[in-house]
Amino acid sequence: MTDVRFDDRVALVTGAGGGIGRAHALSLAERGAKVVVNDYAVNIKGDSEPDDRAQAVVDEIRALGGVAAANRDSVADATGAQAMVQQAIDEFGRIDVIVNNAGINASDKIENEPGPAYQQHMSVHLEGQLMTVRAAWPYFERQNYGRIVNTSSAAALGFVQPDGTWYGSYAIAKGGVLAATRQMAGAGAGLNIKANAILPLAISRMVSPLIPGTSVLDYMERHTGPEHVALAAAVLASEQCPSTGQAFSVSGGRMAVLVFASPLGYADPELTPEKVLENWGQVMGEQDKEHQLLNYYEAVDNAFEYTLLQRAGIGAEIAL
Ligand SMILES: NC(=O)c1ccc[n+]([C@@H]2O[C@H](COP(=O)([O-])OP(=O)(O)OC[C@H]3O[C@@H](n4cnc5c(N)ncnc54)[C@H](O)[C@@H]3O)[C@@H](O)[C@H]2O)c1
Repeated sequence: MTDVRFDDRVALVTGAGGGIGRAHALSLAERGAKVVVNDYAVNIKGDSEPDDRAQAVVDEIRALGGVAAANRDSVADATGAQAMVQQAIDEFGRIDVIVNNAGINASDKIENEPGPAYQQHMSVHLEGQLMTVRAAWPYFERQNYGRIVNTSSAAALGFVQPDGTWYGSYAIAKGGVLAATRQMAGAGAGLNIKANAILPLAISRMVSPLIPGTSVLDYMERHTGPEHVALAAAVLASEQCPSTGQAFSVSGGRMAVLVFASPLGYADPELTPEKVLENWGQVMGEQDKEHQLLNYYEAVDNAFEYTLLQRAGIGAEIAL
Protein backbone atom coordinates (compact mmCIF):
# COMPACT_ATOMS: atom_id res chain seq x y z
CA MET A 1 0.00 0.00 0.00
CA THR A 2 1.41 3.44 -0.94
CA ASP A 3 1.52 5.99 1.86
CA VAL A 4 -0.44 9.18 1.29
CA ARG A 5 1.96 11.89 2.45
CA PHE A 6 2.17 15.66 2.13
CA ASP A 7 5.82 16.26 3.00
CA ASP A 8 7.04 19.52 1.41
CA ARG A 9 3.45 20.38 0.48
CA VAL A 10 1.57 23.43 1.69
CA ALA A 11 -2.19 23.33 2.16
CA LEU A 12 -4.83 25.97 2.83
CA VAL A 13 -7.95 24.70 4.59
CA THR A 14 -10.78 27.22 4.87
CA GLY A 15 -13.24 27.16 7.74
CA ALA A 16 -10.79 24.93 9.58
CA GLY A 17 -11.49 26.19 13.11
CA GLY A 18 -13.97 23.40 13.84
CA GLY A 19 -16.01 20.54 12.44
CA ILE A 20 -14.89 18.96 9.17
CA GLY A 21 -12.36 21.73 8.37
CA ARG A 22 -10.47 21.13 11.61
CA ALA A 23 -10.34 17.42 10.76
CA HIS A 24 -8.94 18.22 7.28
CA ALA A 25 -6.26 20.46 8.81
CA LEU A 26 -5.25 17.91 11.45
CA SER A 27 -5.10 15.03 9.01
CA LEU A 28 -3.08 16.92 6.38
CA ALA A 29 -0.66 18.19 9.05
CA GLU A 30 -0.30 14.72 10.55
CA ARG A 31 0.72 13.46 7.12
CA GLY A 32 3.39 16.11 6.71
CA ALA A 33 1.70 19.17 5.17
CA LYS A 34 2.34 22.67 6.36
CA VAL A 35 -1.16 24.05 6.83
CA VAL A 36 -2.70 27.51 6.76
CA VAL A 37 -5.68 27.12 9.05
CA ASN A 38 -8.27 29.67 8.01
CA ASP A 39 -11.40 30.50 9.95
CA TYR A 40 -13.47 33.67 10.07
CA ALA A 41 -15.12 32.54 13.33
CA VAL A 42 -18.83 32.82 12.66
CA ASN A 43 -21.89 30.90 13.78
CA ILE A 44 -23.77 28.74 11.30
CA LYS A 45 -25.77 31.72 10.08
CA GLY A 46 -22.59 33.67 9.39
CA ASP A 47 -22.66 36.06 12.39
CA SER A 48 -19.37 36.83 14.06
CA GLU A 49 -18.35 34.84 17.15
CA PRO A 50 -15.73 36.09 19.58
CA ASP A 51 -13.21 33.21 19.58
CA ASP A 52 -9.93 32.56 17.78
CA ARG A 53 -10.69 29.05 16.58
CA ALA A 54 -8.11 29.15 13.78
CA GLN A 55 -5.37 29.71 16.35
CA ALA A 56 -6.80 26.99 18.61
CA VAL A 57 -6.44 24.44 15.77
CA VAL A 58 -2.94 25.70 14.97
CA ASP A 59 -2.05 25.14 18.64
CA GLU A 60 -3.42 21.59 18.42
CA ILE A 61 -1.37 20.88 15.30
CA ARG A 62 1.80 22.30 16.83
CA ALA A 63 1.26 20.31 20.03
CA LEU A 64 1.22 17.19 17.87
CA GLY A 65 4.50 18.20 16.22
CA GLY A 66 2.98 19.63 13.04
CA VAL A 67 3.47 22.94 11.23
CA ALA A 68 0.62 25.41 10.82
CA ALA A 69 -0.29 29.10 10.73
CA ALA A 70 -3.59 30.78 11.54
CA ASN A 71 -5.55 33.01 9.20
CA ARG A 72 -8.75 34.80 10.21
CA ASP A 73 -9.92 36.28 6.91
CA SER A 74 -13.26 35.63 5.25
CA VAL A 75 -13.32 33.57 2.06
CA ALA A 76 -16.27 35.68 0.98
CA ASP A 77 -14.03 38.72 0.71
CA ALA A 78 -11.77 38.85 -2.37
CA THR A 79 -8.98 40.54 -0.41
CA GLY A 80 -9.31 37.96 2.35
CA ALA A 81 -9.19 35.02 -0.06
CA GLN A 82 -6.10 36.51 -1.70
CA ALA A 83 -4.50 37.14 1.70
CA MET A 84 -4.86 33.56 2.91
CA VAL A 85 -3.09 32.23 -0.18
CA GLN A 86 -0.44 34.95 0.16
CA GLN A 87 0.07 33.87 3.77
CA ALA A 88 0.86 30.34 2.59
CA ILE A 89 3.47 31.79 0.21
CA ASP A 90 4.94 34.19 2.78
CA GLU A 91 5.14 31.71 5.65
CA PHE A 92 5.78 28.42 3.86
CA GLY A 93 7.02 29.41 0.39
CA ARG A 94 4.36 27.74 -1.75
CA ILE A 95 0.76 26.57 -2.11
CA ASP A 96 -0.10 23.07 -3.31
CA VAL A 97 -3.50 22.21 -1.92
CA ILE A 98 -6.69 24.13 -1.33
CA VAL A 99 -9.45 22.53 0.69
CA ASN A 100 -12.46 24.82 0.29
CA ASN A 101 -14.53 23.90 3.30
CA ALA A 102 -15.80 27.11 4.93
CA GLY A 103 -19.55 27.14 5.14
CA ILE A 104 -22.68 28.52 6.72
CA ASN A 105 -26.25 27.34 6.63
CA ALA A 106 -29.27 29.61 6.79
CA SER A 107 -32.59 29.48 5.06
CA ASP A 108 -35.16 31.79 3.58
CA LYS A 109 -38.68 30.82 2.66
CA ILE A 110 -39.22 29.78 -0.94
CA GLU A 111 -41.68 32.62 -1.44
CA ASN A 112 -38.94 35.11 -0.44
CA GLU A 113 -36.15 33.74 -2.62
CA PRO A 114 -33.72 35.14 -3.46
CA GLY A 115 -33.81 36.26 0.18
CA PRO A 116 -31.24 37.60 2.65
CA ALA A 117 -29.40 34.25 2.94
CA TYR A 118 -29.05 33.93 -0.82
CA GLN A 119 -26.17 36.34 -1.40
CA GLN A 120 -24.47 35.09 1.76
CA HIS A 121 -24.53 31.51 0.50
CA MET A 122 -23.33 32.49 -2.94
CA SER A 123 -20.52 34.58 -1.43
CA VAL A 124 -19.28 32.01 1.07
CA HIS A 125 -19.86 28.68 -0.66
CA LEU A 126 -19.55 29.51 -4.32
CA GLU A 127 -17.63 32.76 -4.78
CA GLY A 128 -15.43 31.94 -1.76
CA GLN A 129 -14.30 28.71 -3.40
CA LEU A 130 -13.69 30.50 -6.69
CA MET A 131 -11.72 33.30 -5.05
CA THR A 132 -9.27 31.09 -3.15
CA VAL A 133 -8.69 29.09 -6.32
CA ARG A 134 -8.17 32.19 -8.43
CA ALA A 135 -5.59 33.46 -5.92
CA ALA A 136 -3.69 30.16 -6.02
CA TRP A 137 -4.03 29.50 -9.76
CA PRO A 138 -0.93 31.42 -10.94
CA TYR A 139 1.19 29.43 -8.47
CA PHE A 140 -0.45 26.14 -9.49
CA GLU A 141 0.19 26.96 -13.14
CA ARG A 142 3.81 27.95 -12.60
CA GLN A 143 4.65 24.83 -10.60
CA ASN A 144 2.53 22.55 -12.81
CA TYR A 145 0.85 21.19 -9.72
CA GLY A 146 -2.27 21.88 -7.73
CA ARG A 147 -4.94 19.97 -5.85
CA ILE A 148 -8.37 21.45 -5.13
CA VAL A 149 -10.97 19.87 -2.89
CA ASN A 150 -14.25 21.77 -2.96
CA THR A 151 -17.09 21.12 -0.57
CA SER A 152 -20.54 20.57 -1.99
CA SER A 153 -23.40 18.87 -0.18
CA ALA A 154 -25.96 16.16 -0.72
CA ALA A 155 -28.42 19.04 -0.20
CA ALA A 156 -27.70 19.88 -3.85
CA LEU A 157 -29.49 16.63 -4.72
CA GLY A 158 -32.68 17.73 -3.00
CA PHE A 159 -33.24 18.49 0.64
CA VAL A 160 -36.25 19.80 2.54
CA GLN A 161 -36.31 19.34 6.29
CA PRO A 162 -39.18 17.24 7.72
CA ASP A 163 -40.52 20.45 9.32
CA GLY A 164 -40.80 21.99 5.84
CA THR A 165 -37.72 24.23 6.06
CA TRP A 166 -36.17 24.42 2.67
CA TYR A 167 -32.49 25.12 2.28
CA GLY A 168 -32.87 26.66 -1.14
CA SER A 169 -29.95 28.99 -1.52
CA TYR A 170 -27.65 26.68 0.47
CA ALA A 171 -28.46 23.84 -1.91
CA ILE A 172 -28.28 26.09 -4.98
CA ALA A 173 -24.83 27.35 -4.01
CA LYS A 174 -23.67 23.78 -3.33
CA GLY A 175 -25.00 22.76 -6.76
CA GLY A 176 -22.92 25.57 -8.21
CA VAL A 177 -19.88 24.10 -6.50
CA LEU A 178 -20.32 20.90 -8.53
CA ALA A 179 -20.32 22.88 -11.78
CA ALA A 180 -17.42 25.06 -10.64
CA THR A 181 -15.42 21.93 -9.83
CA ARG A 182 -15.99 20.47 -13.31
CA GLN A 183 -14.87 23.76 -14.86
CA MET A 184 -11.77 24.00 -12.65
CA ALA A 185 -10.86 20.43 -13.62
CA GLY A 186 -11.24 21.35 -17.29
CA ALA A 187 -9.04 24.42 -16.89
CA GLY A 188 -6.45 22.40 -14.97
CA ALA A 189 -6.27 19.49 -17.41
CA GLY A 190 -2.76 19.26 -18.81
CA LEU A 191 -1.41 21.42 -16.00
CA ASN A 192 -1.49 18.70 -13.35
CA ILE A 193 -4.10 20.73 -11.49
CA LYS A 194 -6.83 18.43 -10.23
CA ALA A 195 -10.13 19.56 -8.79
CA ASN A 196 -12.71 17.37 -7.13
CA ALA A 197 -15.67 17.97 -4.87
CA ILE A 198 -16.88 16.17 -1.79
CA LEU A 199 -20.40 15.77 -0.49
CA PRO A 200 -19.64 15.13 3.17
CA LEU A 201 -21.89 13.92 5.93
CA ALA A 202 -20.51 14.28 9.44
CA ILE A 203 -21.66 15.17 12.87
CA SER A 204 -20.93 18.84 13.51
CA ARG A 205 -22.53 21.90 15.01
CA MET A 206 -24.04 22.54 11.57
CA VAL A 207 -26.11 19.36 11.52
CA SER A 208 -26.86 18.39 15.12
CA PRO A 209 -29.32 21.27 15.83
CA LEU A 210 -31.34 20.21 12.76
CA ILE A 211 -32.14 16.72 14.05
CA PRO A 212 -32.40 16.89 17.86
CA GLY A 213 -33.48 13.71 19.66
CA THR A 214 -33.64 11.60 16.50
CA SER A 215 -32.19 8.18 15.74
CA VAL A 216 -30.35 9.86 12.83
CA LEU A 217 -28.53 12.12 15.29
CA ASP A 218 -27.66 9.10 17.41
CA TYR A 219 -26.42 7.25 14.30
CA MET A 220 -24.36 10.24 13.14
CA GLU A 221 -22.80 10.70 16.57
CA ARG A 222 -21.71 7.09 16.62
CA HIS A 223 -20.66 6.55 13.03
CA THR A 224 -19.99 9.75 11.09
CA GLY A 225 -17.08 11.65 12.58
CA PRO A 226 -15.51 14.59 10.72
CA GLU A 227 -12.23 12.62 10.64
CA HIS A 228 -13.83 10.05 8.33
CA VAL A 229 -14.46 12.84 5.79
CA ALA A 230 -10.95 14.20 6.15
CA LEU A 231 -9.29 10.81 5.61
CA ALA A 232 -11.21 10.21 2.39
CA ALA A 233 -10.62 13.77 1.14
CA ALA A 234 -6.87 13.38 1.76
CA VAL A 235 -6.74 11.14 -1.32
CA LEU A 236 -8.13 13.97 -3.44
CA ALA A 237 -5.64 16.42 -1.96
CA SER A 238 -2.70 14.11 -2.59
CA GLU A 239 -0.19 13.79 -5.38
CA GLN A 240 -1.59 10.31 -6.12
CA CYS A 241 -5.14 11.64 -6.63
CA PRO A 242 -6.44 9.35 -9.41
CA SER A 243 -9.32 11.51 -10.71
CA THR A 244 -10.29 15.05 -11.56
CA GLY A 245 -13.63 16.77 -12.07
CA GLN A 246 -15.47 14.24 -9.96
CA ALA A 247 -17.67 14.50 -6.90
CA PHE A 248 -17.61 11.99 -4.09
CA SER A 249 -19.95 11.10 -1.26
CA VAL A 250 -17.78 10.78 1.83
CA SER A 251 -19.08 9.80 5.21
CA GLY A 252 -18.48 7.41 8.09
CA GLY A 253 -15.71 5.50 6.33
CA ARG A 254 -17.47 5.26 2.93
CA MET A 255 -16.28 6.98 -0.24
CA ALA A 256 -18.14 6.69 -3.54
CA VAL A 257 -18.18 8.67 -6.74
CA LEU A 258 -21.34 10.58 -7.59
CA VAL A 259 -22.18 9.85 -11.21
CA PHE A 260 -24.18 12.20 -13.39
CA ALA A 261 -25.89 9.84 -15.77
CA SER A 262 -28.73 9.44 -18.20
CA PRO A 263 -30.23 6.53 -20.11
CA LEU A 264 -30.22 6.52 -23.89
CA GLY A 265 -33.75 7.83 -23.56
CA TYR A 266 -36.42 8.38 -26.17
CA ALA A 267 -35.24 9.86 -29.46
CA ASP A 268 -37.24 10.67 -32.56
CA PRO A 269 -36.47 13.41 -35.14
CA GLU A 270 -40.23 13.89 -35.42
CA LEU A 271 -40.64 14.23 -31.66
CA THR A 272 -43.89 15.66 -30.34
CA PRO A 273 -45.02 16.20 -26.74
CA GLU A 274 -47.56 13.41 -27.20
CA LYS A 275 -44.88 10.93 -28.35
CA VAL A 276 -42.71 11.89 -25.38
CA LEU A 277 -45.56 11.19 -22.97
CA GLU A 278 -46.26 7.87 -24.62
CA ASN A 279 -42.61 6.86 -24.27
CA TRP A 280 -42.02 8.22 -20.80
CA GLY A 281 -40.57 4.88 -19.65
CA GLN A 282 -37.71 5.27 -22.14
CA VAL A 283 -37.13 8.88 -21.10
CA MET A 284 -36.74 7.79 -17.49
CA GLY A 285 -34.72 4.64 -18.22
CA GLU A 286 -34.65 1.48 -16.21
CA GLN A 287 -34.15 1.33 -12.47
CA ASP A 288 -35.18 -1.13 -9.83
CA LYS A 289 -36.97 -0.37 -6.55
CA GLU A 290 -33.68 0.46 -4.86
CA HIS A 291 -32.82 2.98 -7.59
CA GLN A 292 -30.18 0.74 -9.10
CA LEU A 293 -29.83 2.05 -12.62
CA LEU A 294 -29.56 -0.17 -15.66
CA ASN A 295 -28.22 0.89 -19.03
CA TYR A 296 -27.31 4.42 -17.99
CA TYR A 297 -24.43 6.38 -19.48
CA GLU A 298 -22.22 8.60 -17.40
CA ALA A 299 -22.48 12.26 -18.39
CA VAL A 300 -18.80 12.69 -19.17
CA ASP A 301 -18.98 16.21 -20.56
CA ASN A 302 -21.40 18.10 -22.75
CA ALA A 303 -19.78 16.93 -26.01
CA PHE A 304 -20.72 13.38 -25.04
CA GLU A 305 -24.37 14.41 -25.50
CA TYR A 306 -23.77 14.29 -29.28
CA THR A 307 -22.47 10.74 -28.99
CA LEU A 308 -25.59 9.70 -27.13
CA LEU A 309 -27.84 11.47 -29.63
CA GLN A 310 -26.15 9.61 -32.46
CA ARG A 311 -26.32 6.33 -30.58
CA ALA A 312 -30.05 6.95 -30.15
CA GLY A 313 -30.27 7.16 -33.95
CA ILE A 314 -30.26 10.90 -34.61
CA GLY A 315 -27.79 12.26 -37.17
CA ALA A 316 -25.53 9.21 -36.93
CA GLU A 317 -24.30 9.77 -40.52
CA ILE A 318 -22.30 12.88 -39.58
CA ALA A 319 -18.78 12.20 -38.28
CA LEU A 320 -18.17 14.42 -35.24
N1 LIG B 1 -21.59 18.39 8.46
C1 LIG B 1 -22.22 17.87 7.42
O1 LIG B 1 -22.85 16.81 7.50
C2 LIG B 1 -22.16 18.57 6.09
C3 LIG B 1 -22.96 18.08 5.06
C4 LIG B 1 -22.85 18.66 3.79
C5 LIG B 1 -21.97 19.70 3.59
N2 LIG B 1 -21.24 20.18 4.64
C6 LIG B 1 -20.31 21.28 4.35
O2 LIG B 1 -19.05 20.99 4.95
C7 LIG B 1 -18.40 22.20 5.32
C8 LIG B 1 -18.02 22.15 6.78
O3 LIG B 1 -19.19 22.02 7.56
P1 LIG B 1 -19.20 21.69 9.12
O4 LIG B 1 -20.35 20.77 9.33
O5 LIG B 1 -17.85 21.30 9.59
O6 LIG B 1 -19.62 23.11 9.69
P2 LIG B 1 -19.05 24.01 10.90
O7 LIG B 1 -20.07 25.06 11.12
O8 LIG B 1 -18.66 23.15 12.04
O9 LIG B 1 -17.72 24.64 10.29
C9 LIG B 1 -17.72 25.66 9.34
C10 LIG B 1 -16.59 26.62 9.65
O10 LIG B 1 -16.52 27.57 8.57
C11 LIG B 1 -16.23 28.84 9.12
N3 LIG B 1 -16.66 29.88 8.17
C12 LIG B 1 -17.92 30.23 7.85
N4 LIG B 1 -17.92 31.26 6.98
C13 LIG B 1 -16.61 31.55 6.73
C14 LIG B 1 -15.97 32.50 5.88
N5 LIG B 1 -16.67 33.39 5.17
N6 LIG B 1 -14.61 32.49 5.82
C15 LIG B 1 -13.90 31.60 6.55
N7 LIG B 1 -14.46 30.72 7.40
C16 LIG B 1 -15.81 30.68 7.48
C17 LIG B 1 -17.01 28.87 10.42
O11 LIG B 1 -16.50 29.85 11.32
C18 LIG B 1 -16.84 27.43 10.92
O12 LIG B 1 -15.76 27.30 11.82
C19 LIG B 1 -19.38 23.32 4.97
O13 LIG B 1 -19.07 23.83 3.69
C20 LIG B 1 -20.72 22.61 4.93
O14 LIG B 1 -21.67 23.29 4.13
C21 LIG B 1 -21.31 19.65 5.87
